[in-house]
Amino acid sequence: MKVLVTGAAGFIGFHTARKLLARGDVVIGLDNLNDYYDVALKEARLRQIEGHENFHFVRASLEDAEAIGELFLTHKPERVINLAAQAGVRYSLENPHAYIDANIVGFINILEGCRHHAVEHLVYASSSSVYGANTLMPFSVHQNVDHPLSLYAATKKSNELMAHTYAHLYGLPVTGLRFFTVYGPWGRPDMSLFLFTRKILAGEPIDVFNNGHHSRDFTYVDDIVEGVVRTLDRVAQPNPNWSSDAPDPATSNAPYRLYNIGNNNPVELMYFISCIEKAAGREAEKNFLPLQPGDVPKTYADVEALTEAVGFRPRTPIEQGIQNFVKWYRDFYGV
Ligand SMILES: NC(=O)c1ccc[n+]([C@@H]2O[C@H](COP(=O)([O-])OP(=O)(O)OC[C@H]3O[C@@H](n4cnc5c(N)ncnc54)[C@H](O)[C@@H]3O)[C@@H](O)[C@H]2O)c1
Repeated sequence: MKVLVTGAAGFIGFHTARKLLARGDVVIGLDNLNDYYDVALKEARLRQIEGHENFHFVRASLEDAEAIGELFLTHKPERVINLAAQAGVRYSLENPHAYIDANIVGFINILEGCRHHAVEHLVYASSSSVYGANTLMPFSVHQNVDHPLSLYAATKKSNELMAHTYAHLYGLPVTGLRFFTVYGPWGRPDMSLFLFTRKILAGEPIDVFNNGHHSRDFTYVDDIVEGVVRTLDRVAQPNPNWSSDAPDPATSNAPYRLYNIGNNNPVELMYFISCIEKAAGREAEKNFLPLQPGDVPKTYADVEALTEAVGFRPRTPIEQGIQNFVKWYRDFYGV
């Protein structure tokens, strides 16, 4: 298959592109290599895949309608995985426009490209943050998610709504994936595992938000990618049992599906930190701080819909995943 992977220099996009290449697909990788975090890390990820004969890289921004139109015309991808986005909850408080540009304007350009070039299936990243103010655990795709707590979450929920209209109007099969706190080798420098590891190894204190009372359904990147590729292969179909009298939010009478991809096993922040300390061989000095605006105290994924559809659920234990990350970090940065 010829697959367009947007955000191919990003954490999840790079791992996804690598997996598709390994199984023989042709990958068109798009990324604008922006400086939201260290560009050298994005370039280093790209170097891992750039030499592959089936990989073609296009440097462009999602919000550049002309460039995206040109890309679809030139490369004619059969399927699309949209992972490029402005990520991060806290950054959305200071830079709201970046989220509208990449996640809203950018996403409409992807939808239009898919529509006009008869793409067989669009799979796109949503986020556990869409559960916002919900407290009924575990979070299920069958719940209502109309109370986002950050603009980032609102843009991801908007993507789900926009995708539904294209599934309804043009019969474009669309699958939205709500990822739960993804971690692992080549991870993002703005996320807690990377920040904590760097500081612990440097002997610097770490900031522990919500006084350590957070818990997160941390999900290992290989499990996320397995879920992405399996859902890519299973083209979204209309749900024959969908009823407008009692509308299931996760399906439709249009070819529209939503899945959580999470570990189904929330981990307390203090235990998470103790695993990093163990892997790093050092104890952290901790600065306890209050809950940050926009943050939610707990996430916990119900993955029944995913398991039923593609016969897979994430399974990497947190201890193993953290060990893999710390090993990668030490090798990559020579610490
Ligand atoms: N990592 C997580 O825990 C997590 C959780 C939930 C959802 N997600 C979503 O998964 C997707 C991938 O996340 P990630 O962790 O790999 O993030 P990332 O920031 O590492 O990757 C995103 C990539 O997209 C590129 N990009 C950003 N805006 C762009 C634009 N306008 N045009 C072209 N390229 C652009 C960036 O340069 C980056 O390389 C995102 O949509 C994110 O919102 C991630």
